[in-house]
Amino acid sequence: MIILGIESSCDETSAAIVRDGREVLSNVVESQIDIHAVYGGVIPEIAARSHIEAILPIIQRALTDAKLNWNKIDAIAVTYAPGLVGSLLIGATTARALAIVKNKPLYKIHHVEAHVYANFLVEPQPKFPMLALIVSGLHTQLVLFKNHGDFALLGQTQDDAVGEAFDKVARLLGLPYPGGPSISKAAANGNPQAFKFPKARMQGKYDFSFSGLKTAVLRQTQALCNKPHDFPSPRLAALLTPAQCNDIAASFQHAAVETLVDKTAVAFTEYSPASVVIAGGAAANQELREQLQKRLPIQITYTSPLMCTDNAAMVATLAYYRSKLEKPSDPYTLEVQPSLAMASVTPQSQ
Ligand code: KG4
Ligand code: ZN
Repeated sequence: MIILGIESSCDETSAAIVRDGREVLSNVVESQIDIHAVYGGVIPEIAARSHIEAILPIIQRALTDAKLNWNKIDAIAVTYAPGLVGSLLIGATTARALAIVKNKPLYKIHHVEAHVYANFLVEPQPKFPMLALIVSGLHTQLVLFKNHGDFALLGQTQDDAVGEAFDKVARLLGLPYPGGPSISKAAANGNPQAFKFPKARMQGKYDFSFSGLKTAVLRQTQALCNKPHDFPSPRLAALLTPAQCNDIAASFQHAAVETLVDKTAVAFTEYSPASVVIAGGAAANQELREQLQKRLPIQITYTSPLMCTDNAAMVATLAYYRSKLEKPSDPYTLEVQPSLAMASVTPQSQ
């Protein structure tokens, strides 16, 4: 089964063609990072307008790269939730129109679940029960998959997502957007023990919180700069020496990663999964990969940085497995759902 996947939930426009959920025939990803970097974050209206311009040429390029024409495409899959409403609408409307015009079945895909499925493109494939640590710009969750389409949410962040915390701390330190890669780069030259940042204690065993950590980083920065009342600003960041900036980045990353690893290790002991996967943009973090691997007595699964961040190959991959569990969607009525939680995505029967 050859599936064309379309992804446009945030600031990446992507189209990919995947055979049998396993073989990526093409994966075209066009990031808008350069457009949004000047603002220090994604501007939804600009994102939607950029998707409109990019989407059709990108789909055409995905077909050309795969050396396929429309006759060979068995189905179309598109991200319909969650994300920025304007961005989601561009992908979903394009997919709906193409499904009608080209007469192809259409599968709606949940973006967060798709991040997890990027790991099914890795050999050997993850086995069930599978513990997934999902760490993206909007989500931080521990999810236990018993099988395809059969999963339970163990816990999640009660405030900021971990990727969001990386982005906010990077902004505070005057480092470029997106924050994840720039914090990691600065952290490589810093001392992770320089500052002891707090780890939140949560009521839910598997819940997370990163807003206190972010505030602790702000307070430390203010103290170092002797400006206890200044808000995050380029002026405040400019008062830090490069060594102080690197030490804060390293100590922040250390605290964030340790929180993620601690909870994943507790879940591993409780549920004894047959595989552990990390998914989402922050799964590209080298420190997280290394610390988690050190802590767990099992080979953890993660994918390349390109596949960790938003891409359509993960959408087409999940659609292959979902197509075995549920009916295609009606292309005339499919709607986007910007805030739909993954926990509520259970397959409809055939
Ligand atoms: O999954 P993703 O591409 O988009 C969402 O669905 O949110 O994740 C983007 C997030 C951003 O917050 C970015 O800072 C973070 O992933 N990220 C990282 C790294 N690379 C990207 N966070 C930590 N370390 C990284 N190396
Ligand atoms: Zn994502």
